[in-house]
Amino acid sequence: MNPAHQGNTDAVESDVGGRVRIFDTTLRDGEQAPGFSMDRRAKLRMAHALEDLGVDIIEAGFPQASPDDFAAVAEIARTLKAPTIAALARCQEADIDSAGKALQGARQSRIHLFLSTSPLHREHKLGKSRQEVIDIAATAIRRARTLAHEVEFSAEDALRTEPDFLAEVFSVAVEAGASVLNAPDTVGYVTPSEIHAMFTYLREHVRGAESVVFSAHCHDDLGMAVANSLAAIGAGARQVECTINGIGERAGNAALEEVVMALRTRQPLFRVDTGIVTQRLFPTSRLLAELTGQAVPRNKAIVGDNAFAHESGIHQHGMLKHRGTYEIMRPQDVGAKTSLVLGKHSGRHALRQRLVELEFAVDEATLDAVFESFKNLTDRQRSITNDDLVALMDKHQNHHPTAAVAVQS
Ligand code: KIV
Ligand code: ZN
Repeated sequence: MNPAHQGNTDAVESDVGGRVRIFDTTLRDGEQAPGFSMDRRAKLRMAHALEDLGVDIIEAGFPQASPDDFAAVAEIARTLKAPTIAALARCQEADIDSAGKALQGARQSRIHLFLSTSPLHREHKLGKSRQEVIDIAATAIRRARTLAHEVEFSAEDALRTEPDFLAEVFSVAVEAGASVLNAPDTVGYVTPSEIHAMFTYLREHVRGAESVVFSAHCHDDLGMAVANSLAAIGAGARQVECTINGIGERAGNAALEEVVMALRTRQPLFRVDTGIVTQRLFPTSRLLAELTGQAVPRNKAIVGDNAFAHESGIHQHGMLKHRGTYEIMRPQDVGAKTSLVLGKHSGRHALRQRLVELEFAVDEATLDAVFESFKNLTDRQRSITNDDLVALMDKHQNHHPTAAVAVQS
């Protein structure tokens, strides 16, 4: 173990090993967020990209929500080969039947049922007692079981539900035929230690726990969706629901690329694997941005423009000596590239490196002179392009024709 992590009490040690299934809900939870809607064609393109990325389950939509959503789910179910295709349904007959119908062509289909379990939702949203909630869930699961290969049951607002009641609902769900139990942090409220405790409790108290997969679905209202998903994995969750670029209701869902790269980069700590082709992360993220018209923030972890960009002189100098000084992942592992951005914080080492890449032979005197002009330019421009550098060199050569020469051309 890395000495820096000795004494780390994260209970990731309590349940180690195995494969975490990646359940992508970009086309459902992600798509239902303001600004991220996609038409059928866009959804199909995205679904193909998710298949290439290697996700295990694609939640293709909520068929009862609209005829277009129904058609998109049906088309994705008919077309895709590798992943399980899931469709969302409330615990209502019409929703379940519609989900079952939309999934008919799927090689492996899953109806994803959800029902609120927290006291707040039971009282204000459903107006139902504990027993009524249990009965509704069981009836819905039994119906869904006849219409799809597998049934996932989500206890909406699970993380604000009384643990003993949640364990009872889940126990009944297992008896009724659910094979995946999802405990969503619907409102992004909990902390990593709390979700860890909840998953540990559920795995100890749900009857039939050993025969089902526990799943985490975390929202990012307090910026903890990824940390919470990882904590749930540490407590034995073996499915994580997430979205590309972390899109989703309100502040979004756990970002798939962040969960996957945390598991991979810190594999010795988590000791689990995913089936994700990580080199596809960057292109998939950019495809989503293109299809939704929503740019990826520059500083977004893993897939933002700055994720592997270095501008400050000290960092660039370190990077030129050893990449590991400022990068913990290899950019090519996520389909991205390192860039040493030339701007006002950059130093001579990076300037020299770029001039060499541009095939200029540069001696110290030339570098001194060009560096000064370069710094002056950065006062007026945020970043300096290769064209700017060629122009600087041209100007310099015209004043000092023997000082620097382009090796070629
Ligand atoms: O956040 C949530 O609770 C959901 C459920 C439908 C799984 O998205
Ligand atoms: Zn959600």
